[in-house]
Amino acid sequence: MVVILVSLIFVAFVALYFYLAQNNKYWQNRGVFCADGALPGVGHMLSVLCMRTSFPECCNKIYNNNRDRSMVGVYNFMSPTLMILEPELVKTVLQTNFTSFNQNYQKANPDLDPLMANHPFVTTGNKWITGRKRLTYAFSSMRLKILLESVKSVCVMLENYLNNKLSKVEKVELELMDLCSKYTTQVVAAAGFGVDGFCFDDEKADASFRKIGKQILEPSIRTTIMFILVVLAPPLNKIFKISFIPKHIDRFFRTMVADLMEQRRKDSIPRNDFLHLMTELERIEGDKIDLEMLTSHVLSFFIDGYGSTSTVMSFIGFQLASHPKVQEKLRKEVMTVLDKYDDVITYEGLKEMTYMDQVFNESQRLLPEALMQKQCTEEFELRGSDGLVCRVQPGTEILIPVQGLHKDPRYWKDPQVFDPERFNPDRKHSIKKFTFLPFGEGPRICVGMRMALLLMKAGFATILRKYSLELSPRTQVPLKMELNSILPIPKGGIWVFFRQL
Ligand code: HEM
Repeated sequence: MVVILVSLIFVAFVALYFYLAQNNKYWQNRGVFCADGALPGVGHMLSVLCMRTSFPECCNKIYNNNRDRSMVGVYNFMSPTLMILEPELVKTVLQTNFTSFNQNYQKANPDLDPLMANHPFVTTGNKWITGRKRLTYAFSSMRLKILLESVKSVCVMLENYLNNKLSKVEKVELELMDLCSKYTTQVVAAAGFGVDGFCFDDEKADASFRKIGKQILEPSIRTTIMFILVVLAPPLNKIFKISFIPKHIDRFFRTMVADLMEQRRKDSIPRNDFLHLMTELERIEGDKIDLEMLTSHVLSFFIDGYGSTSTVMSFIGFQLASHPKVQEKLRKEVMTVLDKYDDVITYEGLKEMTYMDQVFNESQRLLPEALMQKQCTEEFELRGSDGLVCRVQPGTEILIPVQGLHKDPRYWKDPQVFDPERFNPDRKHSIKKFTFLPFGEGPRICVGMRMALLLMKAGFATILRKYSLELSPRTQVPLKMELNSILPIPKGGIWVFFRQL
């Protein structure tokens, strides 16, 4: 009996080993070098699974160990994934041969997350084209000027908030991620739906849009479980069925959009927000936009407008607080431009703040955790300059190591140094194409880029003209990221002293 039991366990282990190792020769069979350290079942992701490192950090390590190759095979758990290291190949995938790589690897389950399933990031074909067209319409120069009016009203709130904090003290210590999230969430509430998000009102914290953002994206027990199931081990989510958007938030957005749209369609009073632009688009197209689709667009506006933008803003604030000379130079530019426009923030004035663009670019170059995952959609032959040829099969994941490219010493002198002069008008033309990808590239380039830059510029113009920023010793430098978070959130936070000038 014991012998049979032991034999059965042995057979089960052997079967399990062969199941987990089934793909382990995938790259070897195709003549593609496989990065060192792959294990059956977990591939190269053991340290990610054990939460010792983040997924982007793990990919960055693979990039640095294989810099002399054009491509390298990786196992994202059991899934064979091709990391492309050469900027020319990145161009092929993102732009030149977009038709063969036209999807992002991340997917949304329409049964669990019906609203997220309409986000242009995960849609394809006509659904993608229509969704992108609507967002592109809202972010043209003419309409950004309309949205800027709402952004400006939030800049006043930001200034009042900081004035209040500094009314009785000479300096105040604030956490940047929290401050920037308050600002960006209030912006998406105002410029998105024309409502007050109560983000700067500590007494209404429970009713604020800030609370909704926190529940979706910021570290908590729910988001940690969701991160493991949705990001690290999607097959397990077939059993647990955890949605990215909590059900009560899904309901909240549906009710809000339905109520606001009913009112907007009736009164047709012009307003300075995204929903108004969508009703305008309905009139142009001569057809009502499906409410489900509209709610999805609103949710995209909310999540991207608040999430990615607050992260990038807090990292820019970190760099400014750490580099007083850069901060002073930028303040001078802000003052000079505002002076020219009677101390009013204008669309034209923000465009003229070109040193601010340099600071944003350099800060985004150094932003940790940047990575893009694409999917091959039709068979394609990738040819590296080292002679390596790989016939990529449909369904294969393609990893674009953005962080590796942004910090590669072959493309950037002293890559770890924060130097906005790399992007000055004389030097920016010598930057190698497709080594700087803060908003992606090609037909899927971030559709909200201009909106993000506008709201970040207005925010920093508001801060720099009145306050100075100084890094608090409470900030742990170098920044280390939380490992269980969807957004790159520094452990312990980014603490900065604000002083009135
Ligand atoms: C600083 C803030 C932001 C950053 C760094 C950022 C970055 C990115 C990146 C890297 C992509 C992938 C591009 C690619 O695959 O080539 C992307 C896609 C996208 N972003 Fe942003 N984004 C930001 C803000 C926004 C905002 C404010 C919105 C909208 C309100 C937005 C909407 C989108 C959408 C809809 C996509 C999917 C595009 C597609 O697949 O066609 N983003 N973003």
